[in-house]
Amino acid sequence: MLPRPVRRGGLFRRKRKLPNTPGLRALQEKEPLKQLLHHLQTLNNQKPKPKPILLKIAPDLTNEQLDDIIEIVHETELAGLVATNTTISREGLSTPAAELEQIGMGGLSGRPVRERATEVIRYIAKKSGGKIPIIAVGGIFTAADAQEKLDAGASLVQVYTGFIYEGPAIVKKICQGLSIQP
Ligand SMILES: Cc1cc2nc3c(=O)[nH]c(=O)nc-3n(C[C@H](O)[C@H](O)[C@H](O)COP(=O)(O)O)c2cc1C
Repeated sequence: MLPRPVRRGGLFRRKRKLPNTPGLRALQEKEPLKQLLHHLQTLNNQKPKPKPILLKIAPDLTNEQLDDIIEIVHETELAGLVATNTTISREGLSTPAAELEQIGMGGLSGRPVRERATEVIRYIAKKSGGKIPIIAVGGIFTAADAQEKLDAGASLVQVYTGFIYEGPAIVKKICQGLSIQP
């Protein structure tokens, strides 16, 4: 049995993402991840109507790890990637180091992740020759942010932190800025 998929925004999303929690990082190693996805696809393909499975990746992966991900997507015939999750990096923040220390570990979202998420998308799109559908997420607040992700090679964009700060009107604003119907 596959765990129940979550239906959101017209697509089914498996609640399996590459973890950004220390201690769970082994899942991002190539072989265990490939085996896990192979197994999921085997179960999925036994269903009368297999669902598209996408893998969500961390922005903290190296280019070498991204190369592995591209290979895995092809080998396991995934429907695409969601790039990216939150980051464990604390680089470039204006918050004093002592305060960051006090806040502790965890994934950062929003503006601090925007640039790296775009880089990851651009790298994957280029390396895969645009063959892997990518849903972009990470620091999208405006139409310009969304356009940046599309220009980098994304097929769809998703807002998360932007939605929290701007509210539901963010969707209309971004669509208007991109001259598309919401
Ligand atoms: C509070 C919070 C909870 C999140 N929970 C999930 C989750 O359950 N599953 C998931 O795939 N991503 C989760 N994310 C990651 C977001 O979906 C998104 O990939 C990330 O925050 C970067 O996008 P953003 O800058 O627009 O927030 C969460 C992010 C935040 C801030």
